[in-house]
Amino acid sequence: MFTFQTVFLIPVLLLVFSPSHAKPPNIVLMIADDLGIGDIGCFGNTTVKTPNIDRIAKEGAKLTHHLSASSLCTPSRAAFLTGRYPIRTGMASRNFYRVSLFVAAPGGLPNNETTYAEVAKTAGYKTALIGKWHLGWSKNSLNDFDHHPNNQGFDYFYGYPLTNMKDFGDDPRESLLLSIFPLWHYQLATMVILLIITTGSFYRMKMIRLFLFVFLVAFGSLLVFSVHYVCIIRYKDFNSLLYRNTDLVEQPIELPTLTRRLAAEGVEYLEDRSKDQDPFLLLMSWTHMHTFLDTADKFKGRNKHGRYGDALEEMDWGVGEILNALDRLNMVDNTLVYFTSDNGGHLEERSADGDVHGGYNGIYKGGKAHGAVDGGIRMPSVARYPPSIRPGSVIDEQTSMMDIFPTISKLMGAKLGNSIQIDGRNIMPLLSGNEKVSPHDFMFHYCGDEIHAIRYRPRDGTSTWKLVLKSPDYIPGKQVCLFVCSCKGAIVNDPPLLHDMTSDPSEKNPIDITKHQSIVKTMLKAMKDHQASILPVDYQLDVSKQLWRPWLQPCCGTFPSCHCIDQKYHGKFR
Ligand SMILES: *[C@@H]1O[C@H](CO)[C@@H](O)[C@H](O)[C@H]1NC(C)=O
Ligand SMILES: *[C@@H]1O[C@H](CO)[C@@H](O)[C@H](O)[C@H]1NC(C)=O
Repeated sequence: MFTFQTVFLIPVLLLVFSPSHAKPPNIVLMIADDLGIGDIGCFGNTTVKTPNIDRIAKEGAKLTHHLSASSLCTPSRAAFLTGRYPIRTGMASRNFYRVSLFVAAPGGLPNNETTYAEVAKTAGYKTALIGKWHLGWSKNSLNDFDHHPNNQGFDYFYGYPLTNMKDFGDDPRESLLLSIFPLWHYQLATMVILLIITTGSFYRMKMIRLFLFVFLVAFGSLLVFSVHYVCIIRYKDFNSLLYRNTDLVEQPIELPTLTRRLAAEGVEYLEDRSKDQDPFLLLMSWTHMHTFLDTADKFKGRNKHGRYGDALEEMDWGVGEILNALDRLNMVDNTLVYFTSDNGGHLEERSADGDVHGGYNGIYKGGKAHGAVDGGIRMPSVARYPPSIRPGSVIDEQTSMMDIFPTISKLMGAKLGNSIQIDGRNIMPLLSGNEKVSPHDFMFHYCGDEIHAIRYRPRDGTSTWKLVLKSPDYIPGKQVCLFVCSCKGAIVNDPPLLHDMTSDPSEKNPIDITKHQSIVKTMLKAMKDHQASILPVDYQLDVSKQLWRPWLQPCCGTFPSCHCIDQKYHGKFR
């Protein structure tokens, strides 16, 4: 029955609620460092408490088959931000050197690549990155900030250029470089002794030769000492840097208060957006779970997993701070919240005392830096967006972290040109239940610049297949490497190993490939097509682009002391 009021009211309501007048949705993305899928309550962990991450899954979706483009942070993050395989952006490595280790090195994400933050800006969004970057810094001169987040679409940045590191803690026995070169001191001593003996034996030679050798010895020793000084003695001072936009505000970073500061910055950003009502994209890039693990005192010793467990609970608390702010500011219904990790738990990571300081990857094989095994790339991921995602959804279909780029671009109403190859797909139809099958037929799992495995989800049936071309060079009898596995040293599987990931998610029982010739053929053909689409670019992780450059070294205060503290938080969290 139509009364005058209903006839009148319906058009008015339609006008008010019509999509063209709706406020564009806000985007809050969170990424953890080296967090394993087995570390999180909603993914089956019963011994650590992660109520806040679990809450996102409960109020939204849990993605049980969400894959990173690499099992290492620099390439994984490059792909996450651009929606493109690292091989396309120059962020895949073709040597043993696979992540940035010095702030003062010129390699990094080329600034002609488009990040989702840049896309957000074209749609009128404010954008911020709080926390870890790890995609390069200055390129040609000190403070040209060529690779800086402010140059890659983020209006506001509070965080650090590199990554957390064992070397950044307060335990001098914990050093990444020492764990790669445990015999460094002996090697150095041997070199010096050899140099002295050589000089001695040339004492009997003609003066000019002696002079030449003394000169070379002196020069060599100086070189060895400088490398030692920069890489070991001053590594923390030179690389543990905290910035607000392009201002160096702290050197080295005070780790125990860092997570609280990141959370406070995130909350302040949300409060500011609540005041100006501008749509925003906020990326919270947490320091945890990367070593050196350090937390506020109140998180210490609360669970049975030592410092790793403390850090996990502190990070979950940080996630809670962001969720609580969204509640308080009435932003829940209009905000997409997404949480993931950059790569799997680091199985080989131990403290100087031998405690486990790496994450747990649940039922999945392998972990961080193990190439293509699922433990390194299957990420604990959850997403909440009340307008489209039903509470308690579980998405078992294969998806990629690269999907976030096109998914949020669509949500923000941004137009993407088609001149650039985007490897991600819009997964909102899958998250909302409108689609049942993954938009990805194929995914390619890289180790450095090589494909180690191919994933295939045929449109029909229920299985997802994984064809493993190369496997990690594990220590015989174990499923770990020394500290990281090598890409070039991986074991070639001839014939390749085929797994049905739906019935064998732990990659334990390869299937007889002679019975699945057509599937294998389809997968190898897809790989060829994919490889044909890769254009040549500069490799940003070549050693030549990653070695320390004295002229790019930031330093606050006076050289060589280089110390300062962020005045905004000084004394606040003590
Ligand atoms: C929970 O996570 C911790 C920390 O990584 C791990 O040591 C433990 O084995 C996990 N527990 C379960 C039951 O999965
Ligand atoms: C960025 O510039 C480099 C060097 O000129 C080029 O090789 C690459 O294709 C460019 N990338 C994009 C996405 O335009």
